[in-house]
Amino acid sequence: MCGIVGYIGNRDASAVLLKGLQRMEYRGYDSAGIAVVNGDLDVRKKLGKVEVLVRELDGNKVSGNLGIGHTRWATHGVPSDVNAHPHTSSDGKFALVHNGIIENYAAIREKLQQNGHTFESQTDTEVLVRLIEDIHNKNDQSLVESVQEALRHIVGAYGIALVSSDEPDLLIAARNGSPLILGVGENEYFLGSDAAPIIEYTRDVIYLNDGEMAVIRRWGYEVLSVDNVVQHKEINHLDWDLQEIEKGGYPHFMLKEIFEQPKSIENAMRGRIDASNQHVRLGGLTPHLEMLKSADRIIICACGTSWHAALVGEYMIEGIARIPVEVEYASEFRYRNPILRKGDVVFVISQSGETADTLAAVREAQSQGIPVFAICNTVGSTIARESDAGIYLHAGPEIGVASTKAFTGQVTVLAMLAVKLGQGGALSADETNTYLKELKAIPGKVEEVLKKSDEIKSIGQEYSYMSNFLYLGRGPNFPVALEGALKLKEISYIHAEGYPAAEMKHGPIALIDQFMPVVFIANKDSSYDKVLSNIEEVVAREGVVIAVTDNEDPELDRLCKHVIRIPSTLEYLSPLLTVIPLQLLSYHIALLRGCDVDQPRNLAKSVTVE
Ligand code: G6P
Repeated sequence: MCGIVGYIGNRDASAVLLKGLQRMEYRGYDSAGIAVVNGDLDVRKKLGKVEVLVRELDGNKVSGNLGIGHTRWATHGVPSDVNAHPHTSSDGKFALVHNGIIENYAAIREKLQQNGHTFESQTDTEVLVRLIEDIHNKNDQSLVESVQEALRHIVGAYGIALVSSDEPDLLIAARNGSPLILGVGENEYFLGSDAAPIIEYTRDVIYLNDGEMAVIRRWGYEVLSVDNVVQHKEINHLDWDLQEIEKGGYPHFMLKEIFEQPKSIENAMRGRIDASNQHVRLGGLTPHLEMLKSADRIIICACGTSWHAALVGEYMIEGIARIPVEVEYASEFRYRNPILRKGDVVFVISQSGETADTLAAVREAQSQGIPVFAICNTVGSTIARESDAGIYLHAGPEIGVASTKAFTGQVTVLAMLAVKLGQGGALSADETNTYLKELKAIPGKVEEVLKKSDEIKSIGQEYSYMSNFLYLGRGPNFPVALEGALKLKEISYIHAEGYPAAEMKHGPIALIDQFMPVVFIANKDSSYDKVLSNIEEVVAREGVVIAVTDNEDPELDRLCKHVIRIPSTLEYLSPLLTVIPLQLLSYHIALLRGCDVDQPRNLAKSVTVE
């Protein structure tokens, strides 16, 4: 949430900053701004997306080769020009950008007001920059020391970057809770909330940890603790490809990412499955395998779409490996004083690896002595680094705010995990063989489903004006119903609910009429007959049914207005196929309604605040 960029070197800073903000816009898009040092401090900020700021700067350029920038997801104060970052000191010498929430900002502001400070914005960030100014003006301290002292007064989460017109060779960054990466180039340095704004220039990066600050000068950098102790940091090499963060001919990142799924699912399995030898290799987990297999209980914590993947994982691990699983919202887990016992194991799932609640769940479990394993997409992310071990998705960067390929990557990893945990136990050699072979066949089957995009678009055309949708599924496809409903509401702003199909009669059935399309996942599996009865019940109430199915049963064609046929697979692997039509349906409906598919209102991709 909120994207921070920074640059110091010989390039035109505003060009680097603006491009960086555009590359990272999925982190927030209420307003954007930059501050560039060139003798004075030139600050430009605008309500709206980065392109509004770009237009504003066109013909009215900012020159200089040191600066910071920000794209905002509002927490304190409405989106507006005034509340946009950077925020400046009252003498206009310092500029600060911030990602996070300063919890004690009201008390600090009151104190500063007593000292004569006035405030223009409603943000917590302006309070921090004025606090730094206040400390700096009162004491005979360097800017670095003033920032350190100010940060010691702060309660809450922050990633910050700061420049001053008095220090044209200095860029300061600090982190506590909100991610920050330092890109190390040749005689130039970059800052980013993630790697997207950096990789065009360098792939050598340093991940800042909580409580650390980077003091970056034109001739070198130093990482210090907030207490001024030098930290020795390793440089990591990223293997991201620039074209992975570009649209590559697709109109939207979301569509590109939907169509990337055959590849991303294959990448999740690459080097991990040897079907001929019935071997699954999940390298990070190898030293912990016996402990995992004998776990009394696996608890999976996640948020959003990752939580839906966790629910699919619950069905898979319990069904395939026969190990009890509980799935928790990370935000609930962290605060409800969870009872954890020896023999429990926690898994967390996070595409970004930065979600604040999921990170807090990692720390909560670890504080109780429970081992934590992470399923993440973003290599080097905080959750990946803080967990005891983990499995990467290798799905490549996901830019569309609505998650698609990360979901199928997560489910693929969970399927491999379930088989690995079941091997030599609940899962026979024959069954192992069947699962591994079928997993290998999934990318080809996803290709088949993707060919239905036009058919799904024309179904979408009939329903794009609707205000409500219901999604129903059973077993491992119940979480897919939840995910289908989430996709639709996220990007088209149509109210949608997901339910286990059998629960329909306990409430949602009261809503059924011809204006509430019902999307059923009706695969030919153990619950098909029951789902068919549920379809009958909907049709009997004049409901309109869209079915996603691998079943040729003509009964479905008789009952349902639309039947989207997909290839068959094993029941526990079916979410990898059933979710694809639902992603496409929401994409096409959102587009028909004129919605901003990649950057839906009020949302952000990486939720680094509570
Ligand atoms: C946000 C995103 C979702 C994502 C969720 C969890 O809400 O918009 O797409 O599923 O965060 O994010 P994570 O990075 O932890 O998977």
